This record gives sequence, structure tokens and C-alpha cells, in this order.
Amino acid sequence: MRTTQELLKMKQQNEKITMMTAYDYPSAKQVEAAGIDTILVGDSLGMTVLGYESTVQVTLDDMIHHAKAARRGAPNTFIVADMPIGSVGISDQQDLNHALRLYQESGANAIKAEGAHLASFIQKCKQIGIPVVSHLGLTPQSVGIMGYSVQAKTKGAAEQLIQDCLTMEAAGAIMIVLEVIPSDLAEAISKKVSIPVIGIGAGNKTDGQVLVYHDVLHYGQEHRAKFVKVYGDFSVGVEALRTFNEEVKSGAFPTEAHTYKAKVMGELNHD
Ligand code: KIV
Repeated sequence: MRTTQELLKMKQQNEKITMMTAYDYPSAKQVEAAGIDTILVGDSLGMTVLGYESTVQVTLDDMIHHAKAARRGAPNTFIVADMPIGSVGISDQQDLNHALRLYQESGANAIKAEGAHLASFIQKCKQIGIPVVSHLGLTPQSVGIMGYSVQAKTKGAAEQLIQDCLTMEAAGAIMIVLEVIPSDLAEAISKKVSIPVIGIGAGNKTDGQVLVYHDVLHYGQEHRAKFVKVYGDFSVGVEALRTFNEEVKSGAFPTEAHTYKAKVMGELNHD
């Protein structure tokens, strides 16, 4: 399993870091089998597996439940689990209790929290031993305020984002996820901070890349952002299910090959 220190070394040695979302036992198992460096149990599970419109409905209990399943599927992969909306940024005591619950109960190696207002939270987590990944740029929990558009496009906003990343690093963040920002800005930030920067929709000059499993495998997701590359096609599963439906209705399934027999049945008296 990768460690925080190894991930840092990968950045220092210009070795790209891979991260893929996984939200349950089989997907985490696949991500681990593929040799991907890290798993993100993202609150994007709200859309991809729970069928919500956004991440806004996801709860801390949802995240713990899914992160535990991912942990069972990928016992040897560095797992980051998302703090969902409202679980952090409310009050110091409550924030830390939530962070501790997510970290302890899920068995994740780090937690991730959205927003530049969380420097003191990150600092306190570090003090009590919880590694935190900061998520900046487009932060989907704030969809009601910022939408899903490209962030930090003006000079002022770009300068602010650079400053925020430096603040997160100083607070003790172990990594930064930068979502949907111009690639030259992401490149500049990746050079400025010494912790790994993982991009999504942030060009190819960050220290690593993260994508969403269901996007990458075309699995239940029809909407496709510009930054997504589809590497596989799980939508073919529908054809298999259609065939099952037809075969059961026509009597073609189950066949002898899928049927158990007990010799004793011939000896029973039954009408
Ligand atoms: O929840 C998630 O999947 C994420 C990624 C988009 C980075 O935060």
C-alpha cells in the first residue's frame, strides 16, 4: 500500500500518481487489481450509485458505509474518503468528531474536504493524526453557488487559488485535488506547492490524475464532462440482462448445466 510519504516521493521523482473513485467492494477490488495508486471514495457516489442530482444529499453515514465496503475490496490501496457537505465547516468540535468518525470507522488512509475555508480544520486534524486532502477549484458541494463551470479564469481568482493552495499546504494538507481549472494555472500551482496535486479537468501537468469510475467505464452515467475519457464500456451489461430476461421467459434458462438433482427424489412418493 502507498503511504503519504511515498506519494510525496512520487511527486519529487516526477512519477505520476493515479487515483480512481470506487464506492463499493467490487469496484475497489477492480481498482486495486488494476494497480492504481490510490482510491477516492468520493461523494460523487451520490450521483453515480445513489442516483441523486448532485453530491448535496450525501450524508456522513453514506460515506462511512461505502468507504468500509471499498476498504474490504481494496485492503492494500491508499484510500481517501470524502467529508460530505455539512459534515465539516460548521463548528470546530463537530467537524473534528465527524473527521474522526470517517477516518476511524471507514479504515480510510485519509479524508478529503472541499473548500479554502478549512485551514484550521486541516491543522487540527494533523495535530490529532488525521491526514487531510484539500479539494479546491470547482467544489461540487457548492454547486448551488458556483455551478459546474471552469473556475479561476480571472487574474484575481487565479491569484487567490494559488494563495489558497499555499495556505492548505501550510495548514498540513497531504495532497490537493484541483478540479476544473485552466491547465496553465494547475501547472503553476503544482510547481509552487511541495505536496502532490491531483487534477481532474486541470490538464496534464499536475502530479496526478483522478477520474470517476462510472465515467471511465461508461457505467450508468450518460452525461460526460469534457475532461472525461472513457476507457471501457460497462453499458453492455444491459444486453446480458436483456438476454437473461428473454431466456427465462422462453424457458431456455436454466438448463441442465445450472440445475441440481437429488437421486432421492425418485424414491419419494408424491403425486
Ligand atoms: O467526489 C468525487 O468523486 C470527487 C472527484 C470529482 C475529485 O471529489
